[in-house]
Amino acid sequence: MRNKRVLSGIQPTGNLHLGNYLGAMKNFVAMQNEFECFFMLADLHALTVKTQPKMLNESILNTAASFLAAGIDMKKNVIFCQSKVSSHTELSWILNCIARVGWLSRMTQFKEKAGSNKEKASVGLYTYPILMSADILIYKATHVPVGDDQKQHLELCRDIAMKFNSDYNNDYFILPEPIIPKHVARIMSLRDGSKKMSKSEESDLSRINLTDSKDQIVQKIKKAKTDNDPINEDIFKENSIRYEAQNLIKIYSNLKSETLDKVLNDFSGKTFSDFKKELSELLVEKIHPISKKINQYRSDDKELINILNIGSEKANRTAENTILEIKKIVGLL
Ligand code: ADP
Ligand code: TRP
Repeated sequence: MRNKRVLSGIQPTGNLHLGNYLGAMKNFVAMQNEFECFFMLADLHALTVKTQPKMLNESILNTAASFLAAGIDMKKNVIFCQSKVSSHTELSWILNCIARVGWLSRMTQFKEKAGSNKEKASVGLYTYPILMSADILIYKATHVPVGDDQKQHLELCRDIAMKFNSDYNNDYFILPEPIIPKHVARIMSLRDGSKKMSKSEESDLSRINLTDSKDQIVQKIKKAKTDNDPINEDIFKENSIRYEAQNLIKIYSNLKSETLDKVLNDFSGKTFSDFKKELSELLVEKIHPISKKINQYRSDDKELINILNIGSEKANRTAENTILEIKKIVGLL
């Protein structure tokens, strides 16, 4: 039996939001006591779409500060930048030669991100899931906590690992398991319950950023789209199209650590304007302390960079061993 090991990553592009927190980071924090964890800033992935160097730099520091502010302990875990561990890109090339074109062409995130003009998308955006597979396999991770949107990439990673094992007649790669949170796997936009909350959505009103002030949180929840019906169990009935209502109730239930049934029961018959007051208070209580800590960490960028460098050294030690073993398996000198 190999040890349980976690690897996950978040792209440093813009500010992290409630979707990243509930879908990914809260899970990272919960796993750090049970697993050996590697948490990565996927800075090379951030280059797949056009970025300004200064903005990327800021986002890297903000994301590192957010990891720490959310409660990821740098002493227990390895927190590092992907670009500082060159074995990821070396393995990515080898995996490029294992993965099949047909597999990549099925990836729905590429289709969404490339939009209507696929010919103009970067090649990196297309091959992005292969680098992601290398990120995971280079640490022989057993578990990968991610939001629901990354599930297909995890399946691809498992296919690549299986094909490598079968092509080279061994069981070198372990097949990683995705860990996807139950009710908050996909937090939706506050303006449109059929779209996921995302950093790339134009309207800032569509998301709660981890750096939002108390007033911004209250205003965004006040303006969040809902319907005119009262709160009742119909919200989660099969065929219900009360997506915005579902989203707000799920957010509340997760932050309050209460079941959906309990929340529906407690607010049964109430209007969304009553519910929204309680939700904003809860969000302020949970998110504001994180936002304060992000600012504290950002007041000492030198220390942040130092923390990332310590993490990169540790990550390199593990990754370098793996790439040497893989080179040997495939016949490179
Ligand atoms: P974004 O889509 O906002 O650019 P990333 O792609 O960097 O976010 O995602 C980082 C992590 O956060 C991934 O594990 C992803 O699955 C999770 N995540 C992103 N958006 C959401 C969301 N709306 N709901 C739940 N999890 C999310
Ligand atoms: N692709 C992930 C996202 O967009 C980020 C990421 C890169 C990642 N490498 C990873 C997540 C490895 C988990 C494991 O959210």
